[in-house]
Amino acid sequence: MIKAVILIGGPMKGTRFRPLSLELPKPLFPVAGFPMVYHHIEACSQVPDLKEILLIGFYQPNEALTRFIANAQSEFSVHIRYLQEFTALGTAGGLYHFRDQILGGNPEYFFVLNSDVCCDFPLQEMLTFHRGRGNGGHFTIMATEATRQQALNYGCIVENKDTHEVLHYVEKPETFISKLINAGIYLFSPAIFKHIKVVFQRNQETTDHEMNSVNRYDLYHPTKEVIRLEQDIFAPLAGTGELYVYFTTRFWSQIKSAGAAIYANRHYLNIYHRTHPDRLSNNGEKKPKIVGDVFIHPTAVVHHSATLGPNVTVGKNVTIGAGVRVRESMILEGSVLEDHCCILYSIIAWNGVVGNWARVEGTPNDPNPNKPFAKLDIPELFSDEGKLSPSITVIGSNVHIPGEVIVLNSVVLPHKELGRSCKNQIML
Ligand code: GDD
Ligand code: GTP
Repeated sequence: MIKAVILIGGPMKGTRFRPLSLELPKPLFPVAGFPMVYHHIEACSQVPDLKEILLIGFYQPNEALTRFIANAQSEFSVHIRYLQEFTALGTAGGLYHFRDQILGGNPEYFFVLNSDVCCDFPLQEMLTFHRGRGNGGHFTIMATEATRQQALNYGCIVENKDTHEVLHYVEKPETFISKLINAGIYLFSPAIFKHIKVVFQRNQETTDHEMNSVNRYDLYHPTKEVIRLEQDIFAPLAGTGELYVYFTTRFWSQIKSAGAAIYANRHYLNIYHRTHPDRLSNNGEKKPKIVGDVFIHPTAVVHHSATLGPNVTVGKNVTIGAGVRVRESMILEGSVLEDHCCILYSIIAWNGVVGNWARVEGTPNDPNPNKPFAKLDIPELFSDEGKLSPSITVIGSNVHIPGEVIVLNSVVLPHKELGRSCKNQIML
């Protein structure tokens, strides 16, 4: 039997994703029509013999999370539970804290997935690779490639090219180590807990003062139970013959910013061609004009003279009027796009209203297409001159944009009644 754990983080995480994560835990933010972690759960449910998925995080259980889990559980006949950490325990601390739940039923292996990665989850291929390394208590990290410069923002791995054994691991190094990066998806045998236990016990014996200097990233909440999978477990395991790399060349991206959500949306829509062609809209009589990949929720009402796409997602109960143009954007549940408005490279969050002839436009920060394996950069919010860097336009929930107004490269916080046009601004 196999299990899966999805690390969903908590309220202090996902800060670069604001204001979109102000109202809803970031893992529930919809991409290509479904919550971010729905894509993980769907992929896990297709692994034969995978019986249970545990979401571990430090969000207070809330209605949205409970409802999401109940729906997912009935849709994919797999057992799903949320386990709440009392505080942020780090990427391995939560695993250790809930080890009895993870090991219940004696799983042979378990996957661990970061909730903020987007890919087409080659989990079965990874499992085959893992089994191919023998029956021992070993561990596999999924890896992808990045450019020399971008690799510094990820966990970097040096492998033995013949055996794929991890020889060296450094989390977010300061200077170049390797272009092979940790993709945030792992396959562990239960023996991993032996290694986590060693770190746990060592932390218990450490004084508070020493702890503060070890857990540099969490000075405000020093807790002896914080264990970091990357620094505390992978780094020492490198070179011991127990840690392996499964390399994938398939699409992979992190979702840290709003721009990354637009980018992930495009790729998930593209994956639907293979996995769920029924989710993509077609052209037809009395139907809106569809260009490229477009997802329209069945409850949305779209005027036949509107043009949507490429790479557009239209959520539940959205209304789109005559002559509207939407491209490379996501329109979330309950929003209304009035006649002839134009939305380009933007996210309109829940229950927004965009008036007649208004124009909402952002600037994509796509990776350089001429550089193989280039990843999305997260641009600094402000340029050196103190100006907001051009990026995707994000309209927070319940914002009203009056007719004929132009919003360019801006972020508008929730519940705002915009009175005038704005450019490169954060509207508070
Ligand atoms: N439950 C729980 N508790 N989850 C956590 C905690 C915690 O205390 N801290 C982080 N997470 C979750 C986050 O929600 C996210 O899904 C994942 O763990 C990793 O988050 P970060 O700690 O922010 O790391 P990162 O995303 O900057 O880098 C990690 O992922 C990269 C790939 O996307 C590292 O594993 C890198 O090595 C890797 O390259
Ligand atoms: P093309 O004109 O198709 O080559 O696209 P472009 O990349 O030069 O233009 P842009 O990205 O600005 O616009 C994308 C699409 O939105 C195009 O099909 C335009 O016709 C359409 N569009 C641009 N501005 C408006 C507008 O103010 N109103 C409406 N209804 N559509 C617009």
